[in-house]
Amino acid sequence: MKIYQANVIYTRQSNRFEIVPRGFVAVEDGKVEGVYNELPEHLKSCPIEDLGNRLLIPAMNDMHVHAPQYRNQGIAMDLELLPWLQNYTFPEELKYADTAYAERMYRRFVRDLWRFGTMRVVAFASVHLDSTRLLMRLLDRAGMAGRVGKVNMNRNCPEGLQETVVDAKAACASLVDEFDRDDARVRPIVTPRFIPSCTPELLEACGEMARRYNLPVQSHLSENHGEIELVKQLEPESRFYGDAYDRYGLFGTTPTVMAHCVWTDGEELELLKKRGVMVAHCPTSNFNVSSGLAPVRRFLDAGIAVGLGSDVSAGHDFSIFRMMVYAIQVSKMHYCQDKSCAFLTLPEIFWIATKSAGSFFGKVGSFEQGYDFDALVIDDSELNFDNYSLPQRLERFIHIGDDRQIVARYCQGRLVPDPGL
Ligand code: GUN
Ligand code: FE
Repeated sequence: MKIYQANVIYTRQSNRFEIVPRGFVAVEDGKVEGVYNELPEHLKSCPIEDLGNRLLIPAMNDMHVHAPQYRNQGIAMDLELLPWLQNYTFPEELKYADTAYAERMYRRFVRDLWRFGTMRVVAFASVHLDSTRLLMRLLDRAGMAGRVGKVNMNRNCPEGLQETVVDAKAACASLVDEFDRDDARVRPIVTPRFIPSCTPELLEACGEMARRYNLPVQSHLSENHGEIELVKQLEPESRFYGDAYDRYGLFGTTPTVMAHCVWTDGEELELLKKRGVMVAHCPTSNFNVSSGLAPVRRFLDAGIAVGLGSDVSAGHDFSIFRMMVYAIQVSKMHYCQDKSCAFLTLPEIFWIATKSAGSFFGKVGSFEQGYDFDALVIDDSELNFDNYSLPQRLERFIHIGDDRQIVARYCQGRLVPDPGL
């Protein structure tokens, strides 16, 4: 048993913070045993790590990020999604055929996730098997957790990024064999890039792999007008974009997360709900490649699970804290246009980024009993120069803080040190 004493802040439900000033979090076998105002009798003899006036909060989950776009972070923002992919993204991802290049970039990628307090990811690698393996090993070695997908793609992209269906299946089998253990921190996920990148045969194979190995699925959905028009041409029998995934068993047959859903409404929104598909909301990406403002309040009202994603490099920012701010701002733009659409509150967006997103991995993202102890220690003394309340301190850190205030990180109860480069 290990006990941490600090100003504990987390969520159980969407609309309020649980705040325990100078509270105690007891952790056993990597899981939270309880959060206490006062130390109960049965814990009085346990060693206590006193974190003083610091904040102790759940760690961040990035539900959508592209590791092989690392070099393009912060550049190439002058095109919409489809030409952006062809002109900037595919040429960069081609380089990941070279594992030496991949290792150089992936080390930096893992370190940046770590810097910003992201302990779990749902990540896209590239189409290349060996580089994907490398990324999974680097994350695991760093002590971080999540799902990493070898991307599946075989059309509308350079030849060097196209795989055969046979190779796709063999690569999946090999990753399952090496990584898919119940107790593994980093596990595979089936990753058809999006409908325009995959022929019907490859989509069929992806659905089959998800079923055969009981693997979750990630992809992109209804992100950008140009893309949605292309999907209509490529899948004329599908009633809407999400229906195209659904036809191939890629829409909630196994746990599924779909990035963006900027233009999702009507039947597609109904199907997200019915199939229990999670939405990864990526507000910076939606700004940068001119996609639009995702209707997150509508998803919440419908009972659809939502998490936040950085979507680097269409998104320029790794910080899930900053993503919370952008998401609130997006919701306020919706509110300006329609006052019946209430904007997101800080407790709501914190809950989305931690407990709601974390549900994709199991009991993750809260300090309720039985949850994995994924946590960040925040030393905000530089920002806390006057009598701010605890909710205000968290609000200030989310809005104007950065990695300098994150002084310790835990994943599954273990301290996660700087992985270095
Ligand atoms: N749709 C298909 N591939 C991508 C990608 O790499 N980034 C984004 N934002 N959307 C995509
Ligand atoms: Fe993406």
